[in-house]
Amino acid sequence: MQLNGFHDRVALVTGGARGIGRAIAERLRDLGARVAVGDLRAPQIDGVLGLELDVTSEPGVEAAFARVESELGPPSILVLNAGIFVIEPFEETTLESWRRTIDVNLTGAFLCARRALPAMREAGYGRIVAIGSSAGKTGGAKAVAAYGASKAGVMALAKAIASEYAPHGITSNALAPSLIDTDMISSMPDMADKVPVGRLGTVDDVADTVAFLCSAHAGYITGEVVDVNGGFLID
Ligand SMILES: NC(=O)c1ccc[n+]([C@@H]2O[C@H](COP(=O)([O-])OP(=O)(O)OC[C@H]3O[C@@H](n4cnc5c(N)ncnc54)[C@H](O)[C@@H]3O)[C@@H](O)[C@H]2O)c1
Repeated sequence: MQLNGFHDRVALVTGGARGIGRAIAERLRDLGARVAVGDLRAPQIDGVLGLELDVTSEPGVEAAFARVESELGPPSILVLNAGIFVIEPFEETTLESWRRTIDVNLTGAFLCARRALPAMREAGYGRIVAIGSSAGKTGGAKAVAAYGASKAGVMALAKAIASEYAPHGITSNALAPSLIDTDMISSMPDMADKVPVGRLGTVDDVADTVAFLCSAHAGYITGEVVDVNGGFLID
């Protein structure tokens, strides 16, 4: 199926310099959207507006959105992808480390969504996808309490936005991926044999799902958390 709904749309992907976010940005670009990507260092991606963006900074979020609006137009597609993954035994988790994970993975998503929603509401159209994690359902493998809590939070945030903004033509969904082959999981042992489909996930597995949820075909799907995990967690 050729996915429609990207022509004349502006998309912003956070944390898209590499990994899953980059694949999502390239997919949305290839489908015809005008795409901006924000990351700690402005990414260089063909045909994409690269922005320096720290999602934890309210003025930084404001400046990045202002630039997207002036160069491409107001985003009607927002992918909340920026994230960090820290493995740390619970009793060794400092308040600073806890706050950093919650700040990037949850508060950053809040700041970006809050900045994006007024223009979507005015336009009567929007697509928000938050990248959660199966860890947000299970608490994760050992020693990722802050990460699991932050991902549970961002998946609930996507649902809360869904119910508040459904009357305005805006859908808001989350993904709960696990074991996607990126730098983020490079410190973990290879878990491919633990995945029922027999392989790790690819960034394209995630980008395909995000593209569908951001397309014109997914207007009746909102408040959903979609697993992209090869059967690793069936719930
Ligand atoms: N890889 C997996 O198995 C997996 C599983 C579940 C969920 N996820 C989630 O998918 C998303 C992407 O992960 P990935 O695997 O591509 O990881 P990654 O580490 O390759 O990419 C994360 C990106 O986020 C950026 N980032 C970090 N802090 C930021 C900040 N404050 N502001 C802006 N950008 C920031 C990084 O610079 C990086 O480019 C994350 O939210 C992650 O939690 C990944």
